[in-house]
Amino acid sequence: MLSPWTSTQALRGLGRHVGVGAHKVNSVVSSLYLADRDVGTSRRTTLTSSRHPPHVSRLSVRAFHTAAPSLAIADDIARAVTGAAAANAPDVLEAIGGLANADRLKRVARDFRTDTITIPTDAQILYALRASRGDDVYREDPTTNALEERVARLSGKEAALFCSSTTMSNQLAIRSTLTQPPHSIICDHRAHTYMWEAGGAALFSQATSHALTPSNGLHLTADDIERNLCLGNDIHFAPNRMISLENTMSGVVFPQEEILKIHSLAKKHDLALHLDGARAWNVAARELERRGLDASKDTDIQAVLSELLEPFDTVGLCLSKGLGAPIGSILVGSKSLIDRARWFRKMFGGGWRQSGLLAAQADWAITHHMPRLAGTHKLAARLAEGLEDAGCEILAPVHTNMVYFDPSPLGLSTDTVMAALAALPDPIVLQDNRCVIHHQTSPKAVEDLVAEVHRLGHEAPQSERGKAKKAKLGY
Ligand SMILES: Cc1ncc(COP(=O)(O)O)c(C=O)c1O
Repeated sequence: MLSPWTSTQALRGLGRHVGVGAHKVNSVVSSLYLADRDVGTSRRTTLTSSRHPPHVSRLSVRAFHTAAPSLAIADDIARAVTGAAAANAPDVLEAIGGLANADRLKRVARDFRTDTITIPTDAQILYALRASRGDDVYREDPTTNALEERVARLSGKEAALFCSSTTMSNQLAIRSTLTQPPHSIICDHRAHTYMWEAGGAALFSQATSHALTPSNGLHLTADDIERNLCLGNDIHFAPNRMISLENTMSGVVFPQEEILKIHSLAKKHDLALHLDGARAWNVAARELERRGLDASKDTDIQAVLSELLEPFDTVGLCLSKGLGAPIGSILVGSKSLIDRARWFRKMFGGGWRQSGLLAAQADWAITHHMPRLAGTHKLAARLAEGLEDAGCEILAPVHTNMVYFDPSPLGLSTDTVMAALAALPDPIVLQDNRCVIHHQTSPKAVEDLVAEVHRLGHEAPQSERGKAKKAKLGY
């Protein structure tokens, strides 16, 4: 926690930075002092030291209880930071987050490996300071309860469960839905639930996966699934009980008409339909923009998200990818399913205690980072355009925040490109031919990446063109 003196200076600095007047900053400072005062004797000692401004000592604890609405004041300053992002206020100010985190933000801005790489903003953490500190296993944490209620509402489902990761949300959905083996799940052969969750479905749910290759190379279709359905009583097989889809996959948006067809098929055969919606917020952000709706309004998000998720029985919605919560994912579904999932979450060791700090940061992320997603999609489009212009092939439609490129037409391998980017004076990090844009990616990093690939392309010998190893559309 910040010392009162540091926080005073930092907030005044922040206030100046974002153009918030001294009066407002003083009220925030008082509020934080008094919040500190609320936490115990050691703080109280600091508070009565001569280093804090005189007006603070005049305020009583009673005044704090009556005058300070719990999240509103920290929220004011935090909102000012977010609102001032366009005016170049960074997500981390050295005066608040410290030098190491301010530096980390600069590195993250040039890191294209994944959208989980973002760091919590100062504003997000200030907001979380006032989160409730109850025990979520006892269901006694109002901030966590409020987050679950909010996401259930936004997604149009009855209930929601805050989990530590989307791997956990997915596995809980599978475990809470499937009951008696033998049983199987139909999914894409690249599905996270199948390939990237350490075989969890086999262990936790005793389920086998029937992993299909989409005939169109991008996403499964109802025809793909129907042709491969495994139902009935043939004792050789583990019959399908669930279809699990993923949206987005490789940044590509699953067409909703196809989802509706798959939903009809699922209902016809009494199969549960799950969505790994790790990046469903990106799908919603794209749709909000397409319809001219406002990604900062819950009513608009709800209109779009609930429609997108309506066909699914269960959805895992990641909070720590595009939205930039430090940790977390939410499983949504019917009340009875979520009650069961809560039980299994405890069994998996995922029941958490004072989760309010995390829930508040996730809540902040929905409010303040959801509106940033459209910008990440624009940056991705710009990156794709620049790479294509440099002579690379773009391997999948760039619908959201991912660009898969193949530099082999330039005579370059992905490894060569990665090494050159890593060797830049201000390095750019890539782990393969997938570039992921997140809300802290800087436009300059995108331009630098494009410029470097242009340069490498010009320097590559003509004789090498077409000979380099072709990069593929991976996960
Ligand atoms: C599509 C998809 N689903 C699920 C996950 C798992 O998320 P987590 O890291 O929160 O377990 C990921 C992580 O990258 C993912 O990309």
